[in-house]
Amino acid sequence: MLIKQKIEILDSTLREGEQTPGVSFTVDQKIRMAKQLDAFGVDFIELGHPAVSPDVYEAVDALNDLNLNAKKMAHGRALISDIDDALNIGVDWMGIFFGTSDLSLKYKFNVTKLEALLRIETAVKYGKDKGLKLRFTAEDASRTDLNFLIQVGQMVQESGADRFSLADTVGCLTPTKMKVLVSRIVSELDIPIHVHCHNDFGMATANAVSALEAGAQCVDVAVNGLGERCGLPPLAEVVTALTHIYKVNGIWNLKMIPELTELVDMFSKLDSNANRPIIGKNAFTHKAGLHVKAVVKEPTSYEAISPESLNRKRHLVIDKYSGKSALNNRLLEIGFIVSEKELDNLLKKIKATPIMVNWGDEDIISLAKSLGIKV
Ligand code: COA
Ligand code: ZN
Repeated sequence: MLIKQKIEILDSTLREGEQTPGVSFTVDQKIRMAKQLDAFGVDFIELGHPAVSPDVYEAVDALNDLNLNAKKMAHGRALISDIDDALNIGVDWMGIFFGTSDLSLKYKFNVTKLEALLRIETAVKYGKDKGLKLRFTAEDASRTDLNFLIQVGQMVQESGADRFSLADTVGCLTPTKMKVLVSRIVSELDIPIHVHCHNDFGMATANAVSALEAGAQCVDVAVNGLGERCGLPPLAEVVTALTHIYKVNGIWNLKMIPELTELVDMFSKLDSNANRPIIGKNAFTHKAGLHVKAVVKEPTSYEAISPESLNRKRHLVIDKYSGKSALNNRLLEIGFIVSEKELDNLLKKIKATPIMVNWGDEDIISLAKSLGIKV
């Protein structure tokens, strides 16, 4: 048998799936999907990042009250305020992340490796002191200096983290490279290893399965492969490959795949080609606030290849997942300079309107006018 260890599946449809450009789920839709995913048999369900918007906070709160077999996990940055959100909601599990590549340290955080280690350590220890079960994700792990990545893993393990997760944030690994990376990390740490793959080169499923072959315990998936740009490994591909090719006896109810697909298709209203690598409408579209902020500063932060090299264009979506910097960037493009307070008011309104999944320039101008902002 190629895979000997225990295998777990984490479904991120409700969290990263909602980072798909054009997608915004209602709280009720999230509850329906969570119940189906639980019946299907996933081990973890990522509930969402409460700091994103009021409706995401409300959804995490409501989902956490469901009686499910799956472990329920809130998502957030390595920030005390994000951990406090999870504590206030009362979740058992939290996944926190911090970009560890030189690119992230320089362009996203402007910190040294030592400062990054201290920020991560503070967050992990804070969460553990408060009794959370914690997964720490090294975002952009695949482009992180290997010695530093091991240092981060050992430090979070010593600080009490329950799981260490490696994110191939721009999907640039190959199955062979994934195997080398995961084998090394597994040999250096005692806590179970998780892997989060992206599909920018169409290799997400292959990379996820390869990570399991190398000893990872858990891989992230999303129904229909939703997620930023070209998305995550599709749940259906990963579990059927594990069952049929690798003969893993999961407790997954494969017969539920069509209804899960239809449910998520219906709620995401997504053209099924939108998240295809290279050619899909979303392949170079960025949505969540911190992705857009980083891409504006340095596109390679969240792009494995440049859209220009393929005669394509980059798009930056404004919706409830936007942050201050993304909105300000759009306002500057339109030609408006607003005060900090006006920016806050505009963003608050956008976050309170989850039904709007792509604010155009005209929509933003009318909103500004309705709030009495001179534009
Ligand atoms: N850990 C700790 N701090 C972080 C962080 C992390 N992983 N990511 C960003 N920060 C800090 C930034 O350095 C910044 O600090 P500063 O104000 O001192 O400069 C602060 O958090 C705000 O940054 P950011 O999150 O980029 O703000 P934003 O207003 O643009 O976006 C959200 C806010 C909630 C929309 C954003 O966090 C988001 O996009 N979340 C969902 C996406 C996500 O989770 N992606 C990663 C996994 S796929
Ligand atoms: Zn991701």
